[in-house]
Amino acid sequence: MFVLSLRGSPRAKGNTSVLLSAFLDEVKSLGGRVSTLDVTQMNVMPCRGCGVCERKGFCPQDDDMQAAYPLLRKADLVVLATPIYFYGPTAQLKAFIDRSQALWSRKYALDLEDPGRKWRKGFLLAVGATKGKNLFDGTSLTAKYYFDAIGASFEGTLGYRQLEKVGDMAAHPTALVDAREKAKELSASFLNRKKVLFVCRENACRSQMAAAFARKMAGDRFEVESAGSAPAEKVNPMMETVMAEKGIDMAYLKPSAISDLPDGWHPNGVVSMGCEEACPSFPGAVTEDWDLPDPAKESLDFMRNVRDQVEKRVGHFISESGE
Ligand SMILES: Cc1cc2nc3c(=O)[nH]c(=O)nc-3n(C[C@H](O)[C@H](O)[C@H](O)COP(=O)(O)O)c2cc1C
Repeated sequence: MFVLSLRGSPRAKGNTSVLLSAFLDEVKSLGGRVSTLDVTQMNVMPCRGCGVCERKGFCPQDDDMQAAYPLLRKADLVVLATPIYFYGPTAQLKAFIDRSQALWSRKYALDLEDPGRKWRKGFLLAVGATKGKNLFDGTSLTAKYYFDAIGASFEGTLGYRQLEKVGDMAAHPTALVDAREKAKELSASFLNRKKVLFVCRENACRSQMAAAFARKMAGDRFEVESAGSAPAEKVNPMMETVMAEKGIDMAYLKPSAISDLPDGWHPNGVVSMGCEEACPSFPGAVTEDWDLPDPAKESLDFMRNVRDQVEKRVGHFISESGE
């Protein structure tokens, strides 16, 4: 399980950070992987409303947001954490949220679906100083539409009032326990998944397609990774084209090596397809080899054919895996 948190408070030791740490500590203790983006330290320009993402599916602004999109795509759970500033999130976090319009565009303007969309979850942690009855309403609404844009179901808000000074959160009677409980609840469905690794030579076509189909079909039952024995520099654009024909969005993927797998990530099953003598072996993992040709230097039709074979085999693999 991979949890991405977006920390929106400029106070590194403030109330938001303390609340978020309790949540993430629980995730880690359950065996989840965690990555936090301190949004206040990132160079993220506000959205210019230029419309490029709606036509091309990418934001042309070259800043730290470009490294954030792939993380959002990898995450099982995304946590927004922010103090309330004028009944909304902080400006830094709002800029980050607005720049996710690029992901909204891929779904709603280009009609492409992120394979993780069905299973990804989103949650909001928020803190404010006043008693305001509607204190979290604006930010919760923003979160709701943000999570839809990035392909996540909005699972709700934990909001705490009357906390102002650094140190107030640590003294709260229930907040940190609540955050831990919520982390446990949101993690539960992700923790019991079988881990499966798809491997080919370059991790540019076959294993990427297999991972995407597996995530889309059964991301609730499988934690999926892919890798290559000799990773290419980028994924194959023809592969992206033929997957887009199926409505599947393969943006923001980069080929990776087996050594790039998360620390301690040990698959229950490994499916290899053409990595030959360099196929990895994982003690105890069930392995199988799919005889699929390398489509890298072939025609678009060849790529389509391999895509269809991969889809069929993944479907079979999932139904054979039962449960
Ligand atoms: C610019 C600014 C605007 C704020 N606006 C609100 C507000 O509208 N309502 C509120 O209850 N608290 C407001 N606060 C107070 C913070 O939400 C509160 O101090 C919170 O605990 C800060 O969290 P942090 O320690 O994580 O930074 C504001 C604080 C600042 C600096």
